[in-house]
Amino acid sequence: MAEIGKDIAKAKAYLEKGDLVGIPTETVYGLAGNALNPDAVAKIFSVKNRPSFDPLILHTYDLDSVGHFVKQIPAPLRSLAERFWPGPLTLLLPKKDIVPDLVTSGLDTVAVRVPDHPLTLGLLGVLDFPLAAPSANPFGYISPTKASHVNDQLGEKIPYILDGGSCKVGLESTIVGMEGNQVTVYRLGGLDIGKIENVVGKVEVMAHSSSNPKSPGMLKSHYAPTKPFILGDLDELIAEYNLKGRRFAILAFRRYFPQISDHLQIQLSRDGDLSEAAKNLFAAMRALDSLDVSVILSELMPDVGLGKAINDRLKRAAVPEAGNH
Ligand code: TXA
Ligand code: MG
Repeated sequence: MAEIGKDIAKAKAYLEKGDLVGIPTETVYGLAGNALNPDAVAKIFSVKNRPSFDPLILHTYDLDSVGHFVKQIPAPLRSLAERFWPGPLTLLLPKKDIVPDLVTSGLDTVAVRVPDHPLTLGLLGVLDFPLAAPSANPFGYISPTKASHVNDQLGEKIPYILDGGSCKVGLESTIVGMEGNQVTVYRLGGLDIGKIENVVGKVEVMAHSSSNPKSPGMLKSHYAPTKPFILGDLDELIAEYNLKGRRFAILAFRRYFPQISDHLQIQLSRDGDLSEAAKNLFAAMRALDSLDVSVILSELMPDVGLGKAINDRLKRAAVPEAGNH
């Protein structure tokens, strides 16, 4: 198992040797390596069991440092960075040659973000390279929002996890780039589109296209528990699965189901607060996935604000494994 601690100097030493370290961010935990060292980047793909055609996000200390890695920043994207970094926003920008092709899977754009977590910003501040970091989960599984999640799944394969507590946003960053002159969202995430539109006006959303995805994170089946995950009306699903005699667990937005025992149900936010629901989502999916049940029943959130990003993850979790895993 990995060592878990808050020691930035230790994390730095491992990263400088080309080893990988689990890092906290405000969205989810990352599996980080030196982005300018192709051997470290190759380790990321192998530890995660991730196909090499799925590019990584470069994490940097601040907006100024991004200039080392990209040729230019289109004006609307710069406005977004100024407004929302550090924060759950990733920008797709034209890359400079210094960024290894392995990081970008050969694309001529690189995904960049400045994460909002004091430990990881402290770490980035003492490193003289940026960090490539995908979410620290095996490819296709639910993203980790606690150090223990990372340790459970990747602890055998990495030496150290920087423990920054529970992620306060709980959903991966929103990925934004340009299609010509049009600001375009490629992955719904922790930064609500309404906030982006307040800065740059109407955006295009390409996050739901399924054919030839530009962002492989748009693969339909992703963020998926190992148990079948069924979405629908919970009253109907409960009746149906009771009839079938199946042992099930429930992931609800806010409603409590008195006829179901407490340990078999989780409410994402009893107050109906979508930020709280987002923060709790992945830990709840993991907890239910570990129960002695054969199926997880769930429902969609209200399709507004962060609810849209939560619903995106719920729908991908519900795609059968045989799909596009
Ligand atoms: O919140 C986050 O973004 C977390 C934390 C750790 O920062 N990271 C994360 O990384 O979610 P990952 O690797 O799980 O998802 C990154 C997504 C992938 O779907 C990838 O396809 C997309 O970003 N991506 C990366 N570079 C890209 C590029 N140049 N063009 C299009 N999509 C890109
Ligand atoms: Mg991921």
